[in-house]
Amino acid sequence: MDIRLDGKRALVTGASSGLGVHFAAVLAEAGAHVTLAARRIERVQGEAEALRKRGCSADAAALDVTSPEGVAGFFEAAPAFDILINNAGISGSGAAIDMPLEEFQSVLDTNLTGAFAVAQAAARAMKASGGGSIVNIASILGIRVSGHVSAYCASKAALVQLTKALALEWARHDIRVNALCPGYIETPINADFFASEPGRALITRIPQRRLGKPSDLDLPLLLFASDQSAYMTGSVLAVDGGHLVSGL
Ligand code: NAI
Repeated sequence: MDIRLDGKRALVTGASSGLGVHFAAVLAEAGAHVTLAARRIERVQGEAEALRKRGCSADAAALDVTSPEGVAGFFEAAPAFDILINNAGISGSGAAIDMPLEEFQSVLDTNLTGAFAVAQAAARAMKASGGGSIVNIASILGIRVSGHVSAYCASKAALVQLTKALALEWARHDIRVNALCPGYIETPINADFFASEPGRALITRIPQRRLGKPSDLDLPLLLFASDQSAYMTGSVLAVDGGHLVSGL
């Protein structure tokens, strides 16, 4: 089944690099008008321009998800979106015992509070316009844990639970909220790590013995974004080559 998003308006946060750029392209190629948002306006402008050159419909906006004023100002000026991809995220790493509280807080601010602020603002407009679909990009680290990423694990676990809580409250407004939990996906930012000895060792622990490709997320993303999944809300979908079911 071909999943099309013609006539839909989509917002992708953190669309200046990695998966955000990829998600924006997937939605735009399926026919949606996509707004690419991130802190660095020049980066998202460049990505939107590249999409337009490919015949897609896209524009760009500056948006820092940790700024309540910034989020409010953005949504005041923006049209209602049918689709929100809550993708902006930071990892934060280091041993928990040494982690400065500010660093822990900043991961929560971006990955949890930021995602909530954008979802809330988008949902207010969706409620008025008849509904929509929110896709929170969580992680398998929101379900299981790994060392030296305690703040990230906590933030993504909270995002998974937030997804369910918002799905419950907003179903009556025809707003669906689902979470996509990618496993380890190869992007330019982590390519060096996965080429290293510890990176290669990690790959051997993935049952499929390979990293994910951004394209492995395309169909799950489109499914959640589109009306084809009209009866799915509060769902948490792992796309991880079996990593979550690896043997203990
Ligand atoms: P990335 O670092 O390339 O992308 C994150 C994006 O979020 C960047 O564009 C960054 O500028 C943006 N961002 C950070 N703070 C922001 C803020 N305050 N306001 C607006 N934008 C902000 O990393 P990647 O890999 O593309 O990750 C995208 C999402 O996917 C993240 O939420 C990440 O946690 C999640 N994810 C990634 C996996 C992977 O293997 N690459 C696996 C599981 C989840």
